[in-house]
Amino acid sequence: MEDLPRRATPDDLSRVNLGDPQTFADHDLSDYWRTLRASRPLYRHPAVGNSPGFWVLSRYDDIVALYRDNTTFTSERGNVLITLLGEGDSAAGLMVPVTDGHRHKELRNVLLQAFSPRVLSRIGEHVRRTTRTLLAAAVDRGGCDFALEVASKIPMATICDLLGIPPQDRDYLLTLTKSAISSDDQGEYSEAADAARNNILQYFLGLVEERRIAPQDDVVSVLANSTIDGEPLSEDEIVLNCYSLILGGDATSRLAMIDAVHSFSANPDQWAAFKSGEVSAKQATEEVLRWASPTMHFGRTVVQDTEIHGTPVPAGDVVTVWNVSGNRDERVFADPDRFLIDRSPNKHIAFGHGPHYCIGAYLARVEISEMLLALRDFTTGFEISGPVHRIYSNLLTGISSLPVRFEPVSAEVEELVL
Ligand code: HEM
Repeated sequence: MEDLPRRATPDDLSRVNLGDPQTFADHDLSDYWRTLRASRPLYRHPAVGNSPGFWVLSRYDDIVALYRDNTTFTSERGNVLITLLGEGDSAAGLMVPVTDGHRHKELRNVLLQAFSPRVLSRIGEHVRRTTRTLLAAAVDRGGCDFALEVASKIPMATICDLLGIPPQDRDYLLTLTKSAISSDDQGEYSEAADAARNNILQYFLGLVEERRIAPQDDVVSVLANSTIDGEPLSEDEIVLNCYSLILGGDATSRLAMIDAVHSFSANPDQWAAFKSGEVSAKQATEEVLRWASPTMHFGRTVVQDTEIHGTPVPAGDVVTVWNVSGNRDERVFADPDRFLIDRSPNKHIAFGHGPHYCIGAYLARVEISEMLLALRDFTTGFEISGPVHRIYSNLLTGISSLPVRFEPVSAEVEELVL
């Protein structure tokens, strides 16, 4: 069943407002991106109301070139449309995604210390157990809302493991992040969300104190006990970078996992190839990432006058890059509009590229591939059994509700859990 309410794009490119989440709710933009890639590789998106105009890059090579160059372009005035066209990002210079230069390199290295092979293998084991337990129960019930009952439970548990959140605090933090992030998804300001964000930061401050006294094998301990240029990190830096893992790693991985189920159910030949073992989970995961491209865009501000495709682009301008388009660029991917799990090579840009390349890429890949393996082990197949709802956002793309009916394998699923 395919019932996503999408209409074709308006003929007039300038009528597409990429800043408005409604655009993505109403339209399938495939033709729009194809047209931009073919004839307007550097496109000037018009100003709309109080929102200034900005540049749009849609070709893979141009996107990679911008991601690579953090000298001509900066993330310190925001890295997504809502902050780039608004008042900038209040965490600029403190939080890794919106910091550049020496401080970015150092902060990123500190965070990466917390992603040691020992920690990653422990977390990978948790991901496997959680995924298999949740999916086995859903298959046993015959079906579920895969988005709500399975996929939404995995990334936050993983991030809590990484951060070292004690088990008794997890429900509290989950409730806070739900209200903090739901309004971000909708591109709206809400007082309740603001209060929730402050409570999250306060919570991390408390945890930082505990980890200073008794460090453990987790991100909070690493941040609380590290120095940069001989100085400890500020409290703001520590708590904002804890929060950045939640911001970066929850919805993105969840949307990719949900998309995997949706795409396999729409492409039974690809499911058959995966189920038979013809294609590995590792390879299929890369195509899920390319196909889903959960973060549609990122962006930068120009700091030195430059030129793109022969057009002057002055300092101060905003340039956005659209991963959703780059990952379908016909110059790079053969048959880009087909979900082909054995695609090779598959150098997608779902995780960005260059100095800000996603820190959570390894964990996201583990989450997706464990989900694929569990689907392969517990089900012979599955189908969409009710209306599918898409999220409302100009940054993220994907599905918020996905009712699924499973056909269980003949063996007792519980016996296959571990
Ligand atoms: C950066 C996508 C999962 C944490 C990025 C960037 C992209 C991205 C495109 C680059 C942003 C830019 O250049 O401005 C994704 C996708 C994911 C995912 C599609 C899942 C499928 C995760 C996870 C975590 C995470 C699981 C944390 C555990 C981060 C952080 C950055 C980042 C902290 C900033 C890195 C930096 O600026 O140096 N992500 N991400 N992401 N991601 Fe992810």
